[in-house]
This record gives sequence, C-alpha cells and structure tokens, in this order.
Amino acid sequence: MTVKITAPRETRANERRVAVVPAVGAKLQKLDAEVSVQKGAGEAARVPDEAYEEAGIRVGRLELGKADVVLSVQPPSPTEIRKMRQGSVLLSLVYAHREPKVVQALAENRVTCFAMELVPRISRAQAMDAQSTQSALIGYYGALLAATNLHRILPMMTTAVGSIRPAKVLVMGAGVAGLQAIATARRLGAMVEGYDVRPEVAEQVESLGAKFVDTGVSASGEGGYARELTDEEKAQANEVLTRHIQNADAVITTAAIPGRDSPKIISEEQIRGMKPGAVIVDLAADGGGNTPLTQPGETVEAGSISIVAPLNVASHLAEHASELYAKNLLNFLGLIVKEGEIHFDWEDEVIARSCLTHDGEIKNEAAAEAVKGS
Ligand code: NAI
Repeated sequence: MTVKITAPRETRANERRVAVVPAVGAKLQKLDAEVSVQKGAGEAARVPDEAYEEAGIRVGRLELGKADVVLSVQPPSPTEIRKMRQGSVLLSLVYAHREPKVVQALAENRVTCFAMELVPRISRAQAMDAQSTQSALIGYYGALLAATNLHRILPMMTTAVGSIRPAKVLVMGAGVAGLQAIATARRLGAMVEGYDVRPEVAEQVESLGAKFVDTGVSASGEGGYARELTDEEKAQANEVLTRHIQNADAVITTAAIPGRDSPKIISEEQIRGMKPGAVIVDLAADGGGNTPLTQPGETVEAGSISIVAPLNVASHLAEHASELYAKNLLNFLGLIVKEGEIHFDWEDEVIARSCLTHDGEIKNEAAAEAVKGS
C-alpha cells in the first residue's frame, strides 16, 4: 500500500509558509508515501517547484479528493474540506475557537483532523510541537522588531563623544516566544527584564541573563499553562508592573491563554505613562493583542509610544518556519503511518489529545463548545 500525501499552496492572507519542504518530502517517501505539492506551494517561502521535483515530489494541480493525508499550515476552507475524501486525514494548525465553520465542515465531511496546536506539551511529543517551533521564531523576530522600531540602539556604545547607555527591554510572557525574545534582546546588548504570571519560569529568565520581575502573584495553571488571574490578583501585580513598564524603552508582549483570545496585560493608562519614544511589540496580535490600543496587523502611535502588532509573525521567517513545521508534521505522521498504511492508536495520548475531529465527531471539548456557540 502507498499513502498519498499532498500539501496545498496556502491561500490565507499573510501566509507565506508551506507544510512540506523538499528535504522533508524525501523523508516522507520513506514512510511508503507518494508525496505531491500544489504548483507554487513553496513560492512564498522561497522554495521553487524545481526543488521539490529534484527531491522526487510531484508538483501539479491540487487534488484534495485523491489524497489520504493533507498537510497544511492554515486549515483549508469549508469548501475545500468538502472536496476532501471522507475518512482522509488533515494535519494543520487550526485554532478551533476561531474557526467554528472549519471544524463543523471537518466533522460533517468525516475528515480525521489532528490540530497541531493540540499536540500535548509532554517530552515525547516535543519533536511534534509546532507551537514551540513557531513560537521560538516569533520571539526572535519580536526582539528584532523592538530594535528596529526604537529610535535608539539596544547595546551600550562607547564613542569619542561619550557613552550611550543600553536600552531597557521588558518581555511580558516568558513561554517559548518570550524566552527567545529575551535571549535575542540580550544578544543585541539590551538590559532585559522578563515577567510571567507563572513564577516557576523565573529561573529560565535568569539563566538567559535577564532579571525576573516578581509581583508576588502566581497564576500557574494546569499542564504548564497560565490560568486567568482574579481582579484582586491583577491589581496587586499591576502596581509592580506599572513601574517596570514605564521604565522600559521597549516592551515585548507574548501573553497567551490556550483556546482564548489574548489577555489584555497592559492598560491604556500604563501605556500613556511610558517613556517618550518607547515601543511596544505585541506578539499576541493574532488573538486580538495584549493591549487595548493594539490594532492587529498595524503599527499605531499612542502619543509618542509606538505599538507594533504584526499578524502571523512566523510567516515573516517563512523559510525556517516552514522547515521546522514540516519536520513537526513528519514526526507526527510517524505515529500514524506505518508501512504505507494509516493506523490510529487511540491509547496513545499524543494521538488522542491532538485529535480535533474523527468519524463525524468533534473530539475536542472546547472546539465542540465553540461550534455550538457560533
Ligand atoms: P503560551 O504561548 O500559551 O503563553 C505565553 C506565555 O504567556 C506563557 O508563559 C504564559 O504563562 C504567559 N501569560 C499568560 N497570561 C499572562 C499574563 N496575564 N501576564 C504575563 N504572562 C502571561 O505559552 P507557550 O510558550 O506555548 O508555553 C506554555 C507552557 O508549555 C510553558 O510552561 C512551556 O514551558 C511549556 N512547554 C512544554 C513543552 C514540552 O514539555 N514538550 C514544549 C513547549 C512548551
């Protein structure tokens, strides 16, 4: 048996990534798979069709109805999903709470969908964790955006006319993206502080040479993720945070709560009190942003403070983002494709917890709620 795997050219706005890159396509073939990509699939990530062909991957029209497995970055539209074969498999980032129509179409068309953002954060699944690979790139890019949007430099510089003091950068949200932002801002010579509602990350922040802002409030939740803070806790943390926000030249925010819109972690009042010329880089714009003044996809001015809020940041680094994402997919496929056949071991928690839809059912509770409420 041979499994037919295909990857489309992504069509959503701002999406430059591609789910299969030539090096990974060649490895997919070792799973007894026949791999194809839609013509121009890698163009926006700077991967020419010829590179796929050289790796033995067929390039041509998108034939969703013939594929056993569809690999994509963004979920296909409901119309495209209806073209997929019933019982076929989709591996994609979905973010179901923002895509109720897509989830419904997947269930109705009996597609088995594994949503890559649902891959559990356990050691065994690290190589399949697309959230981590993409977030690491996002954090790196966030620090560069802070550097290029400031009207000053990040490192200390000694010149014949005197010394320039290093810039102060505060990174709020020290998950995967935040830690990379801290590491990158440090490499660029800034004085960096890190803050997170989960105090257990203090050690990681400090190991990167940054100072941890301790507010005395903990919001550690289940599975290593943050929970929502109570109003009282928010007020206590805010008092301390205001001082640090208003002392920074650049604030990079990465705060997220899985399955929810981005929490607002900097108030308008705090922004108005920031230093003239300060910059906020809001890396949570896809979920609505971490400040009430954020305009997702735009750079806005609040007085002399700039709020930079790019969408789909990983796409700006499409070459590496695609390479890492494609490897995450390859590793996940290793769990379900064996000797040219597809098999689901529902006892495996990685498979069970990543499954969004199967056999006409929505398997993820939060996604089922989102569809009901839509
Ligand atoms: P995320 O993207 O869901 O959130 C980013 C950060 O924002 C988190 O650190 C969160 O605590 C923080 N945050 C939420 N609300 C906030 C607020 N009001 N103020 C400030 N910060 C706030 O997180 P990410 O990067 O996906 O990581 C989540 C957890 O998963 C981490 O503990 C990470 O270490 C863990 N992880 C485990 C892996 C594994 O074992 N395989 C792989 C990757 C991550």
